[in-house]
Amino acid sequence: MPSGFYGRRALEHFKSPHNCGEMSEPDGVGEAFNPLCGDRMRLYLRVEGESIRQAAFQAEGCAAAIAAASMTTLLVEGKTLDEALSIRDEDVAKALGGLPESKIHCSILAEDAIQAAVEEARRRRSSGPNKERGS
Ligand code: FES
Repeated sequence: MPSGFYGRRALEHFKSPHNCGEMSEPDGVGEAFNPLCGDRMRLYLRVEGESIRQAAFQAEGCAAAIAAASMTTLLVEGKTLDEALSIRDEDVAKALGGLPESKIHCSILAEDAIQAAVEEARRRRSSGPNKERGS
């Protein structure tokens, strides 16, 4: 495939993103920002035990950033927090069928958002169990 073009899967995720929108009462939220282009991504996680049950995103950015965010929600769902932390930007780009060379860096937003969301989920958990209502 020519390195200057988006693959079919990347275009599909850009045109019809999965899990796009704010999640109510997430267990972890991570934000990533690229100061060079101004693009940003927010990743929401719903976690049960050690497993990510659901993910959603909001993003402002280029086609590659939107596609990467969409793919990221699919990649992290069903993974443990540790497994999610091992996802790298190359994994996201590869899952999209590759990105144009000039857009490879956009998938770094996804990796950064995963790291931030998992860290926050763990921080919330370590700050103590949720207080039971009414007790
Ligand atoms: S150009 Fe900014 S993340 Fe793609």
